[in-house]
Amino acid sequence: MEDLLSISLDGRVLALQAGDITTVPADAIGNAANAALRGGGGVDGAIHRAGGESIQRELDSIRSRIGRCPPGEAVVTGAGELPARWVLHAVGPVYRDGRSGEAATLASCYEACLRLAGDLGARSLTLPAISTGVYGYPIEQAAEIAVGTVGRGLADSEKLPERVCFVLFGDVACEAFRRAALAWAEELA
Ligand code: APR
Repeated sequence: MEDLLSISLDGRVLALQAGDITTVPADAIGNAANAALRGGGGVDGAIHRAGGESIQRELDSIRSRIGRCPPGEAVVTGAGELPARWVLHAVGPVYRDGRSGEAATLASCYEACLRLAGDLGARSLTLPAISTGVYGYPIEQAAEIAVGTVGRGLADSEKLPERVCFVLFGDVACEAFRRAALAWAEELA
């Protein structure tokens, strides 16, 4: 699948692709999960369907240890049948009014995914547009937070994937992330 756009930064790449994240090979695949770690619809449902039952079994074991995964954080499982080694299950904020800390929680999700990918030694990471579906986050604002957080993360730390690719569903999300990525690239220039 072709990149819609890719930005190189000190030997690392931030890229955008359109399509189904479960079909894009990567060392680690990000998921938009829920705090109960019980699977669901959207990208969560797609990842569980494509990855198989081993993923939910690992999440059940994690839940028995930690109870729940708070919004803004993420947990790691294997990837089952997916073209990956790990799945990073991040829990995004439910969008309420934009004044309830949603932006910071969404940024924290992406920071957690970058940190976990770095700790695992993942060289490539794919990420969905967390919280922009069921959780109702306005796509334009979410795209700016996602691209800005990942872009800053890639610039700040050594121990991170060489390539991070947002895999987006539908033209509206693609266009929002494309605009956010171009705006971020202009800030770099
Ligand atoms: N590949 C890539 N992106 C996808 C896919 C897919 N296969 N399926 C859906 N998306 C996109 C949606 O279009 C949206 O832009 O992922 C984004 C996130 O939407 P959701 O999956 O609804 O996730 P979110 O808004 O974070 O809500 C999470 O929904 O599925 C449940 O269990 C999940 O309770 C949690 C909640």
